[in-house]
Amino acid sequence: MTTIPQSFARALSVPLRPSSPDISCSAPLCPHIPDVRPEAEARGSAQMWVLVIIAGIGVVTLLLLLFAPHIRRYAAGAACRTASRLDGKTVLITGANTGIGKETALDLALRGARVIMACRDTEKGEEAAASIRAECPKAQVEVRELDLADTCSIRAFAQKFLREVHQLHILINNAGVMMCPYTKTVDGFEMHIGVNHLGHFLLTYLLVGLLKRSAPARIVVVSSLAHNFGWIRFHDLHSQGSYNSGLAYCQSKLANVLFARELARRLNGTDVTVNSVHPGTVNSDLTRHSTIMTILFSVFSVFLKTPREGAQTSIYCATAEELHSISGKHFSDCSPAFVAPQGRSSETARKLWDVSCEQLGIEWD
Ligand SMILES: NC(=O)c1ccc[n+]([C@@H]2O[C@H](COP(=O)([O-])OP(=O)(O)OC[C@H]3O[C@@H](n4cnc5c(N)ncnc54)[C@H](OP(=O)(O)O)[C@@H]3O)[C@@H](O)[C@H]2O)c1
Repeated sequence: MTTIPQSFARALSVPLRPSSPDISCSAPLCPHIPDVRPEAEARGSAQMWVLVIIAGIGVVTLLLLLFAPHIRRYAAGAACRTASRLDGKTVLITGANTGIGKETALDLALRGARVIMACRDTEKGEEAAASIRAECPKAQVEVRELDLADTCSIRAFAQKFLREVHQLHILINNAGVMMCPYTKTVDGFEMHIGVNHLGHFLLTYLLVGLLKRSAPARIVVVSSLAHNFGWIRFHDLHSQGSYNSGLAYCQSKLANVLFARELARRLNGTDVTVNSVHPGTVNSDLTRHSTIMTILFSVFSVFLKTPREGAQTSIYCATAEELHSISGKHFSDCSPAFVAPQGRSSETARKLWDVSCEQLGIEWD
């Protein structure tokens, strides 16, 4: 049997026969020839992981498709079952040109109410009103201009409203902004607290007399589950020291809960009730200021409520017979809901009330 000379074997990368006299058992196996086994093993295990990941994605997709109808039903949350009619009643909804507000307006118009849609962009408001009329030709909907980021606009709106509208049975403080970059309202308030809380606080103050004269009447304040993550930064309400758009939103939604609580206490005995609601996580335009939230909401849209589904708790609080004397409570999915400890503090609610009056230059006892 012939043996291959070492130099030739090296050139051909042919393994030497173990019988080669130059290779002893203790010497490493051909140190000049790279051992390809670890590389191949690594390649094999990487391929295995890719296959596992692909299989995992496949299984998750299959499960999602299989359970999609159940997921949708679960995500939709509770529907408002009350059949109450609102003929002869007047409703005012802020931010009614899109999202939850528009769906609330449509539902209440279908129940026979005169619905006044308060929108900062009347062109968008008229488009929404036209689409409501297309669905319900008898709908009594009208659009009025209201910019909650400007106290002059709020006062002008209220002045005209009180001159022209003689009854108000339901006020829905729905408009809101979320996670916008640091901006100030015309009056120098940070945008979230300015629009979501202070703007609605002033609007309610200006209209509460009419609500009392129209009693029984209801106020619905659209807050959020986000109130759980907020606290009122009395030392820096307008985030001048430091700003985080998420926390600013949470603070404003906590302010909504506290406002509803304190207002309910003050309206006790007037037959005007006020409750706050969490509409659910709703696929609306609310995320417009945050690219990450917009992407997340698109990817997980199957798990989110549609605006119509999101409007159900507002509609419930505005119309349900059984809530005629319920005030100062928080609702979600058409049921009483948990309120974070900071949202249950009467002391914080009273302090926020006083600070809000001070900021707006009003006296409201
Ligand atoms: N979507 C959710 O997952 C979710 C969850 C919890 C709570 N909420 C609350 O639900 C409410 C409605 O939100 P949405 O989801 O329906 O959002 P949306 O589709 O963005 O609607 C917000 C509405 O508020 C109006 N608005 C914003 N700034 C205003 C201002 N300065 N003056 C007057 N109107 C103003 C908007 O008008 P323009 O169209 O002209 O901007 C729009 O009509 C908000 O209070 C929000 O905090 C929503």
